[in-house]
Amino acid sequence: MLLLAFLLALSGLCRGEGILPAGHLSGGVGGKVTFRTSLSPPQKPFLTVSWSFKGIKIITSTSTNVTAPEYARRISLDRSTGALELRSLVPDDSGEYSVTITPDGEQQNEGRITLTVYELVTKAVIHSPTLVLIEDQTFTNMSCEASGSIDTRVWTKDDRPLRADGRVSFSINNKTVYIQPVHSSSHGNYKCQINNPVSSATAAYNLTVNYGPHNVSIIGPSSAAPGQRVDLRCTADSIPPALFTWTFNGNVTLVNSTEYVIERLSLDSTGNYTCSAFNPVTMWKNSTVLSLRACCSAPCWSLPLVLLGALTLRLGHFFTSEVSFCLSYYAGASPHRAPLTPGPPPKAPSVQ
Ligand SMILES: *[C@@H]1O[C@H](CO)[C@@H](O)[C@H](O)[C@H]1NC(C)=O
Ligand SMILES: *[C@@H]1O[C@H](CO)[C@@H](O)[C@H](O)[C@H]1NC(C)=O
Ligand SMILES: *[C@@H]1O[C@H](CO)[C@@H](O)[C@H](O)[C@H]1NC(C)=O
Ligand SMILES: *[C@@H]1O[C@H](CO)[C@@H](O)[C@H](O)[C@H]1NC(C)=O
Ligand SMILES: *[C@@H]1O[C@H](CO)[C@@H](O)[C@H](O)[C@H]1NC(C)=O
Ligand SMILES: *[C@@H]1O[C@H](CO)[C@@H](O)[C@H](O)[C@H]1NC(C)=O
Ligand SMILES: *[C@@H]1O[C@H](CO)[C@@H](O)[C@H](O)[C@H]1NC(C)=O
Ligand SMILES: *[C@@H]1O[C@H](CO)[C@@H](O)[C@H](O)[C@H]1NC(C)=O
Ligand SMILES: *[C@@H]1O[C@H](CO)[C@@H](O)[C@H](O)[C@H]1NC(C)=O
Repeated sequence: MLLLAFLLALSGLCRGEGILPAGHLSGGVGGKVTFRTSLSPPQKPFLTVSWSFKGIKIITSTSTNVTAPEYARRISLDRSTGALELRSLVPDDSGEYSVTITPDGEQQNEGRITLTVYELVTKAVIHSPTLVLIEDQTFTNMSCEASGSIDTRVWTKDDRPLRADGRVSFSINNKTVYIQPVHSSSHGNYKCQINNPVSSATAAYNLTVNYGPHNVSIIGPSSAAPGQRVDLRCTADSIPPALFTWTFNGNVTLVNSTEYVIERLSLDSTGNYTCSAFNPVTMWKNSTVLSLRACCSAPCWSLPLVLLGALTLRLGHFFTSEVSFCLSYYAGASPHRAPLTPGPPPKAPSVQ
């Protein structure tokens, strides 16, 4: 008994939409939409098919067709299923449509469905104040706008979803993103996708945050064999790129590029190499030190280079453990084995 009541209630709910699918149809301005019925083409044609919208009889098809003049050029009726196509959609077409179909020798069927016509989303753009942004010092915002019917906005940064956190917050409806204050991780490519059920448009914006220099480091061996060419390279996380200066044992050098090349390591060129990185926009400076030593002790130092080359082939067999340590250490420390014979002419900048 209960089950029967439940089934009746359920069928009562379904009858709400009748012979039209449950839910809701979406169309775009200028586009078209088809209201399909759930009826299969009958053996004998339907006696009547009639569609109406807001009290207007769009079409009444019996043995003749009566079409409302304003719809004459915009509709097509499929007499076999009762489906109606509506073209050249305008926003005013939004609303509830109803259909009445009378099959030959059967009861009349009815159905209702709601259409929403959306303007296509176009001309999406992100606006942001033109400020020089410096990490931890400046606040900014980005607003996403477009013309058309806007349903949702979804933001990404570097093609990953942008989430609210301690610095990032969204306005209601996601129109504006606030970054308070900006961080080095805020630097990057932002996209805002604006959607409605029939269209979407995406705008992009590169947010430049000046930061650093952070993580200044010198890439290079901390020891190398005498006579060896040594390349030191300084890196820093910095926007804009950092300017570098090098000091050696506390003395300023003329080298102001990322690379510091020692063509042939000598005792005079061992010591403390300091790379200072300077960001001309944030005006911050950071530095790091690499202590470079010759890895061989005195006996090795006096060996001719050619013999040193031969040593690598007979590693540790005939010579002291100190020497073999030096060679194996060197082989491990450098990804590219530098030539042991004199290399190409010295590159400026260099220090002998
Ligand atoms: C009425 O319209 C339908 C669908 O366009 C068409 O198939 C049918 O022939 C028309 N009937 C008359 C009498 O014009
Ligand atoms: C975005 O920031 C600018 C500059 O601080 C401010 O003038 C503007 O009102 C902000 N926009 C919003 C939507 O808060
Ligand atoms: C706001 O953005 C979130 C996630 O980024 C999304 O789930 C939500 O649908 C958006 N809301 C609106 C109204 O655009
Ligand atoms: C953002 O920067 C990238 C890489 O520099 C560039 O390819 C892209 O065109 C820029 N986008 C915008 C909207 O300026
Ligand atoms: C760099 O310098 C700033 C201050 O100038 C300091 O806060 C920061 O810890 C330094 N180090 C790194 C790795 O960024
Ligand atoms: C500095 O290095 C750390 C660890 O590798 C990294 O997480 C951080 O993002 C770096 N900082 C910048 C500004 O790139
Ligand atoms: C550093 O400079 C001073 C003064 O020019 C000089 O006397 C000293 O020898 C230099 N030190 C090195 C290690 O080059
Ligand atoms: C590096 O120094 C040279 C001369 O010493 C100078 O001409 C050049 O402009 C400097 N470059 C930078 C980036 O400071
Ligand atoms: C290099 O720096 C270390 C540590 O600061 C110091 O002990 C050493 O004396 C320095 N060497 C030279 C040659 O300045």
